[in-house]
Amino acid sequence: MNITVTRKLAQRLIEAQGVALSGQQLADDFGISRTAVWKHIKELEEQGYQIISVKKKGYILAGLPDTLEPTAIQAILKTKRLGRSIHYIESCPSTQIIAHQLAQENTSDGTVVMTEEQTAGRGRMARRWHSAANKGIWMSVILRPDVVPQKAPQFTLVAAVAVVRAIEQVTGLKPEIKWPNDILLNGKKCTGILTELQSDADGIQALIIGIGLNVNQVADDFDPEVQNIATSLKMESGKEIDRKELVSSMLQFLEQYTDLYIEEGFGILKLLWESYSSTIGHPVRARMAKETLEGIAESITDEGVLQLRTADGKLHGIYSADIEM
Ligand code: BTN
Repeated sequence: MNITVTRKLAQRLIEAQGVALSGQQLADDFGISRTAVWKHIKELEEQGYQIISVKKKGYILAGLPDTLEPTAIQAILKTKRLGRSIHYIESCPSTQIIAHQLAQENTSDGTVVMTEEQTAGRGRMARRWHSAANKGIWMSVILRPDVVPQKAPQFTLVAAVAVVRAIEQVTGLKPEIKWPNDILLNGKKCTGILTELQSDADGIQALIIGIGLNVNQVADDFDPEVQNIATSLKMESGKEIDRKELVSSMLQFLEQYTDLYIEEGFGILKLLWESYSSTIGHPVRARMAKETLEGIAESITDEGVLQLRTADGKLHGIYSADIEM
């Protein structure tokens, strides 16, 4: 079976927006027999597309599959660059690993690696990231911004703002950002972001922004050790959420905000980040590799460094830590 034809057929059905497409017309357009068209239709049904066959009229698309298949995402995507190329794998150890390989092979800016399941998902500080099959969004976005390496850390904060905006838009929930880039709902983590860099003497070759978003899990889908600190959009909203809508919205905000950051600097985005922050203005404990500091999180700098004032009045710049509140 020719996969390209199956994909093109899906695209045609989506674009037809509920209007019937005749089997003969499709056969002529693709240069194949009507039986071959029927076989591709069966293949799409296997993938979860709901297709109604109406006598003398043809095929009508009645529903998309609940997978993150590129055809279904790209049909609703409004971006110019991000997600225009999607590498989709049903299961893989980590989308970050694949994205790193692709980035070394000159893959274009905005390429996305997407999977249904990660068997060795990576979190910050070399932790494991649990990625249940078909319930979340596990993706890595490859960016090739023309900026100096010192400007790289802010991309993580920009990505966090893009994700909260998308969660708000699609679900109506009110997420908060815990410095640097954990996204919380009612104090529990629903999203983690891991930004990695490929650079050389010429500057940044690629930024790889890994986003792990818990979407349709129920409590039992999480490992027992994270059940009291993790949550999903479904658990908070009480509704099953369309992952394709979320991916499309996230990529759109990510494109808009990374462009804004590159063109105008961090100013407006820092304001936006602060408006969603659950950390700024609150007493926190910052656990670092060698010490733990307690104090008030006063602000973040233009470089994204957390400014923590301890009881003795000293201001500490925190570059990397686990924050407890
Ligand atoms: C964190 O520790 O908070 C960051 C978690 C990042 C997880 C995402 S899921 C997609 C991408 N692939 C990975 O292996 N990790 C990131």
